[in-house]
Amino acid sequence: MSATQTIEAESTVTDLVRANATTANEEVLQWVTEVAELTKPVEVVWCDGSQDEWNRITSEMVEAGSLIPLNKDLRPGSFLARSHPADVARVEDRTFICSEKEEDAGPTNNWVAPAEMKAELMPLFDGAMRGRTMYVVPFSMGPVGGAITQLGIEITDSPYAVLNMRIMTRMGQAALDGITPGSEWVRTVHSVGAPLEEGQADEAWPCNDTKYITHFPETLEVWSYGSGYGGNALLSKKCFALRIASVMGRNEGWLAEHMLLLKLTNVDTGKAYHLSAAFPSACGKTNLAMLQPTIPGWKVETIGDDIAWLRPGKDGRLYAINPEAGFFGVAPGTGESTNPVAMETLWGNTIFTNVALTDDGDVWWEGKTDEVPAHLTDWQGNDWTPDADRPAAHPNSRFTVPIQQTPSLAADWYEQDGVPLDAILFGGRRATNVPLVAQSLSWEHGVFVGATVSSEKTAAQEGTVGELRRDPFAMLPFCGYNMADYWGHWLEMGETLGDKAPKVFQVNWFRKGADGRFLWPGFGDNSRVIDWIIRRVEGEARGRETAIGTVPADGELNLEGIEVPAEDLDELFSIDPASWLAEADLTEEFFARFGDRVPVALRDQLTQLRQRLSA
Ligand code: GDP
Ligand code: PGA
Ligand code: MN
Repeated sequence: MSATQTIEAESTVTDLVRANATTANEEVLQWVTEVAELTKPVEVVWCDGSQDEWNRITSEMVEAGSLIPLNKDLRPGSFLARSHPADVARVEDRTFICSEKEEDAGPTNNWVAPAEMKAELMPLFDGAMRGRTMYVVPFSMGPVGGAITQLGIEITDSPYAVLNMRIMTRMGQAALDGITPGSEWVRTVHSVGAPLEEGQADEAWPCNDTKYITHFPETLEVWSYGSGYGGNALLSKKCFALRIASVMGRNEGWLAEHMLLLKLTNVDTGKAYHLSAAFPSACGKTNLAMLQPTIPGWKVETIGDDIAWLRPGKDGRLYAINPEAGFFGVAPGTGESTNPVAMETLWGNTIFTNVALTDDGDVWWEGKTDEVPAHLTDWQGNDWTPDADRPAAHPNSRFTVPIQQTPSLAADWYEQDGVPLDAILFGGRRATNVPLVAQSLSWEHGVFVGATVSSEKTAAQEGTVGELRRDPFAMLPFCGYNMADYWGHWLEMGETLGDKAPKVFQVNWFRKGADGRFLWPGFGDNSRVIDWIIRRVEGEARGRETAIGTVPADGELNLEGIEVPAEDLDELFSIDPASWLAEADLTEEFFARFGDRVPVALRDQLTQLRQRLSA
């Protein structure tokens, strides 16, 4: 290219970016121009988050065959998308934390140095958006202007990602206006990696076999290539709100967590409480977030089901927000009998991905209804009947739905500066050892409990379902820095909060008897456990101290109206010192992976646990 041609090319890109730009912030304009020069789209669209924009993009996608409109009478404003069969989930092995130093990513993350990763990525992004529209999507994580809120922009060539981002975040002009010169914001770039040559027809779900989900925590950037799916493409979610935000939180004194957020109101006194809970993927966050209590006395409202940001407030307590504006939930298993609140939420305005289509233009998935339709179109677009030897919906099929449609939504979701936390729960899926509930003996012990969570693998992870894996704080795939430093940050938070710190509990809904059945009815009956937890917070309920924490004293867990056999109840709370000592040995091995970065306080906790177990 000659010098004149280069200048011409540059001025065209500049025009493309600036012609319809909805900001005058030069930092934003220059960054968008740089990305456009690199990726070479035919068009640049600045998204405003309006209903008109939604209508226009959905119509274009329906026209192009990449969205199927659902029956307006049955599921108004809703669409079905079918992904490429090889692009159906997050890709942990292609996810990288590119900090300057390898030890800052730590032993649990894939690491490549930033310069090296950029050198690998830039040739892929060069011309990646050729023949496509580049969307500039400004978004706010949390209420615009809130004390815990953060802003970001996603540049993407995927209209599917734009629609999902409009549901999952507060997307549009207000967010863009909040990004002022010199302010802190997160830059995210996404391409499906499928440039179109002149005259080349597009695919319904363009993507690339080569995938990179890369994070640059020191420069607050995410670059994602090759996938159109969920956490790989909706960069606000796991990429920003957990991996990048966890690093921002470490630097700035707050926490970004894989937690649901709940409000509980004591119906008699009117007093409200807030609780957050970290469980690994597919271990019950969405279900607990939408809890329908089976005991009287409590009103439960939803604030969030996946991510919470926590920050000390002016009064010294720990405040929490759900930074998201929608649910990206697993469809299979969601039905009237298990989660009626979710079913009601999905009445319309929902994007379904990889579920089955009914003959009358609605959606279906395994577990939606007890009765299985006689004929369906499966998630790949093929005819399906109940005798087929494959599921109609993909096991990781999802719904994307606005949180404001949730009948149980708490007004607290709108709170600018979040809600004060009374209790934090850590949990996992454990057939043995871990009791139904135990209160931690101190903040430090609570951090030890969070750091040592193990959970049986679910279909959401690679590997053998049921196999135990360590998943500290349910953050194993989502912590953007060295996990041992993260534990240290939690310990420091305890020092900051002092006696205003929330109380910490461990829960396990999944303990099984020798015959393999769940010992605890779970779901709505988990309100009985929450009831004990809140009464502990109030200093009302009695406990019994054990080696691993305080469990409900006899008669303190409200079991009115359910039949839990005495021997099941004993088993639910039995603590076998030998198995726990064996688990302590595994904890020592796990800690060894992090060398001397493991905080001394956690090593002390391990020593004390062994002493209590041997006493
Ligand atoms: P998330 O991915 O953490 O949000 O988990 P979900 O709430 O979607 O639940 C994952 C799976 O766990 C679903 O199959 C639920 O039916 C199941 N589950 C959720 N809560 C309970 C419970 O209290 N007891 C039992 N036995 N299963 C549960
Ligand atoms: P999850 O992540 O599997 O933890 O629900 C969903 C996503 O891809 O964002
Ligand atoms: Mn969920």
